Amino acid sequence: MAIIIDGKATSAIIKEEVRVEAEQLKAEKGLTPGLAVIIVGENPASKVYVRNKHQSCIKAGMHSVVIEMPEDIAEETLLEEIAALNVDPTIHGILVQLPLPKHINEDKVLNAIVPEKDVDGFHPTNVGYMTIGTPTVLPCTPAGVIELLERYNIEISGKKCVVIGRSNIVGKPAALLLLAKNGTVTVCHSRTKDLAAVCREADILVVAIGKAKFVTADMVKPGAVVIDVGINRNEEGKLVGDVDFDAVEPIASAITPVPGGVGPMTIAMLMKNTLECAKATLK
Ligand code: GUN
Repeated sequence: MAIIIDGKATSAIIKEEVRVEAEQLKAEKGLTPGLAVIIVGENPASKVYVRNKHQSCIKAGMHSVVIEMPEDIAEETLLEEIAALNVDPTIHGILVQLPLPKHINEDKVLNAIVPEKDVDGFHPTNVGYMTIGTPTVLPCTPAGVIELLERYNIEISGKKCVVIGRSNIVGKPAALLLLAKNGTVTVCHSRTKDLAAVCREADILVVAIGKAKFVTADMVKPGAVVIDVGINRNEEGKLVGDVDFDAVEPIASAITPVPGGVGPMTIAMLMKNTLECAKATLK
């Protein structure tokens, strides 16, 4: 029987911590943290994520702006909006919801956000700081993974960590953050040979590949900690992770469920990043 790592409860605790600190910031310094989220087009999943971000901001006592742009918006118009938010003193965090329509250059857009307001931690400057270990804004989902491990007192130092997936949003930064915590890190991807054998070595297995039930029981070492970052829909439209939870749970020492694991942590870390970016303007 594994410990079920409760991301929903942990995220609620972090959001409450942020709310209290934001309230203090307002009372003592007259500063209300503000987040602007830009969404382009009608992607239903993106719309749900953006609505949740907005509601979490309001609950935390923060200023929230959602900017909706049509699917066929010109790249130049989007860049102009970002330029205006970059100099807006009521906004401390800017997030452009991904994915963007194909005619828009994602790198160009992410580069246009000033690093000081880059609450996603996707700007190359912040990615660089993260890579060399300078304190900076960290990408929300991988930061949420580390936060869960730490709040459940799961030691990372010296442990064999295997990350499946090498995306810029999750896999790569997760690997860097585990390395920064002194894990011995292996990153697996579609070209990895004998993936199951590599995974079986892991004390901590982080899965971010985007394929339902990809990780099966034979890929997990008894007693391993399994962190499932996947969000997929199965044939019945139910939300499922990248890990075959029912098969893996009896083998693992701790595991995150889907839903209710890593997912809720992403928004909590976004709230935390927005608060930190607001605080940084006072320094
Ligand atoms: N789309 C899926 N995950 C993310 C994220 O963490 N940030 C942004 N901006 N878009 C996303």
